[in-house]
Amino acid sequence: MSIEAWFGDITTLDVDAIVNAANRSLLGGGGVDGSIHRAAGPGLREECRLLGGCDTGDAKLTRGHRLRARWVVHTVGPVWSGGGRGEDAALASCYRRSLEVASGAGARSIAFPAISTGAFGFPELRAARIAVETLSRADPSPWDRILLVGFDRAAYERYRGLLPEA
Ligand code: APR
Repeated sequence: MSIEAWFGDITTLDVDAIVNAANRSLLGGGGVDGSIHRAAGPGLREECRLLGGCDTGDAKLTRGHRLRARWVVHTVGPVWSGGGRGEDAALASCYRRSLEVASGAGARSIAFPAISTGAFGFPELRAARIAVETLSRADPSPWDRILLVGFDRAAYERYRGLLPEA
């Protein structure tokens, strides 16, 4: 299993599952949520509607609809409020639960956006460290590839700097 940094738009990736940084309603939004829903088409929102929302730190699975990815894992990251309200633990839980839900469906490759670092305001380097630490500790057996997607070069380089040289 390899954990790799990848630079670009998560909706274009040909992996088994892509992770969406959603909100608790699961009914779409801006940022990567908006991009994934636009690329997947209206059927994704219809399927999400049946899920009854998602708690912060949890993750729920849908099909990928028009995306290349077979599944979308919708996870809800914490809103940053200074670090004293369990935000680190909730973010780590997003990565762990997303792996559990996707591997439970049989996924062997998965791509994560930088959960909570946009509208939810989580400090980017702190979030990247939590992502790499949590994924590095996970059971590697279900996975061929785990991608950490940087949507801009700084985010990509941040992940590169935290991952062992390939
Ligand atoms: N591919 C990969 N990464 C992306 C893409 C994309 N197409 N679009 C945005 N990103 C990156 C952002 O640059 C940021 O680093 O995803 C990261 C998460 O940012 P947001 O999408 O704003 O997600 P988040 O901070 O978790 O806030 C979630 O925003 O869009 C709403 O409905 C969503 O209410 C929820 C909140």
